Formats: sequence, structure tokens, C-alpha cells
Amino acid sequence: MVIDILTLFPEMFSPLEYSIIKRARDKDIIKINLYNIRDFTLDKHNRVDDYPYGGGSGMVMMADPIYRAMEHICRDKIKKPRTILMTPGGEKFNQGTAKELAKEEELIFICGHYEGIDERIMTLIDCQVSIGDYVITGGELAAMVVIDSVSRMVPGVLSSKESYEEESFFDGLLEYPQYTRPEIYRDMKVPEVLLSGHHENVNKWRRYQSLKKTYRLRPDLIDYGKLSDKDKKMLLD
Ligand code: ADE
Repeated sequence: MVIDILTLFPEMFSPLEYSIIKRARDKDIIKINLYNIRDFTLDKHNRVDDYPYGGGSGMVMMADPIYRAMEHICRDKIKKPRTILMTPGGEKFNQGTAKELAKEEELIFICGHYEGIDERIMTLIDCQVSIGDYVITGGELAAMVVIDSVSRMVPGVLSSKESYEEESFFDGLLEYPQYTRPEIYRDMKVPEVLLSGHHENVNKWRRYQSLKKTYRLRPDLIDYGKLSDKDKKMLLD
């Protein structure tokens, strides 16, 4: 997958140079291209923002450098890649969106700053995405959250050991508790069933723990229509 990022702060994206995303980039499964919007200005002061028409506080990012950056990125492409604007007013991001976006061959992220972006860039945008109902200082951190989450769903990025198929949200429930050595730590024991080697009982215990944890912490995630009679019984116990 190719990921193009339009930003005023390309240096902010260094977190994508570590860990699993670094490995995916080294293996050429993920390619990340950073574009500084300021490089696409035409005036000698490299201005990227201006006062809002109609007055008001703050500055507005100008449309022209963004159009030019997009024309540059898309210059040899037959099809314009899906283009995402990071904004607190966008559709709320979740695991389902990550799965959808991971199917694309190329994505373009536009990171806003200041009080907003000239509305006329909207003709370039395919979807607007928010990482939650709060405002952060710019789209960069939000884009990194989305890029990290989408990248790990791209085939080949995670090893089978790191597979996402057993983690929180994959089956709509939170992940069951995990333990590793030692067997007793500060008087806290690993649940007996996990030491038993009885796979069926381990799986049953994990399903029950997932259900219980989701019911306690995120009841909004539970789709009661999809629960089996066995699940319902477990919850009522
Ligand atoms: N830019 C500022 N706040 C944001 C948010 N919550 N999601 C996406 N982009 C943003």
C-alpha cells in the first residue's frame, strides 16, 4: 500500500519509523511519502494560510498549495487515490473503517491546521475522518493513528503470531486477559485453567472473560442479537 501524506509538519511523522510499521516499510509492503504543503506555495514567503473572509479569529489554510500538492502526487496516475481529510468534524474512525481502508492500493491523507482549510478543497476529498469527539492541534497525530491502524490490517504486515484475529474488536468484543511467566507474581496467580493444557476449557474461559469484560467496560459494543444462548447464559451467571 502507498500512503501519501500532505502536511505542514512532515517531521511529526517519525513515529511511523519504528516497530511494526518500520518493518512493513523495510519490506516494501507499506510505502509512505511525505509532502510538505509549504513546498507547493508560489509566493516568495511560502505562505500557506491567510485571514478568514468574513472576519473571525485564527487563520485559514489556503486551497492553492493543497491543490498543487495533489496535482503533483496524482500527475501520472490513471485513478486518483482515495483522499482523506483528517478533521474533528469527520466520520468517527473505528476498526471497520480500518478494514475498509486497508483494501485500497493507495491513500492520500490531508492534515489540517489552524482554524481550518478553505472549503474549496472539498472537491478533492473522498472522506473526512475524525479519531474522536475532541479537538487536537492538527491532523498529524490523528493521521498517524489511522495510518497505524490501517497498515496493520494490510496483508503481510503482521506476522501470524501478531495476528489481529484474536484481538479486541475483531469479533466485536474486547480481548480476554493475557498472562505470561511467572506463574505467581506478587501473590497473584495465573488462572488455573490456563495451566491445564485443556484447549476447549481455555477457549471457553477466554470467551467468557471477553464477554464479561465487554459487558463491564463497553456494553455498547455487545450486539445481543448475535449472542448464542450459551453466551447469554454465561453473561447471566
Ligand atoms: N484534527 C483536530 N482534531 C481532530 C480529530 N479529533 N480527528 C481528526 N483530525 C483532527
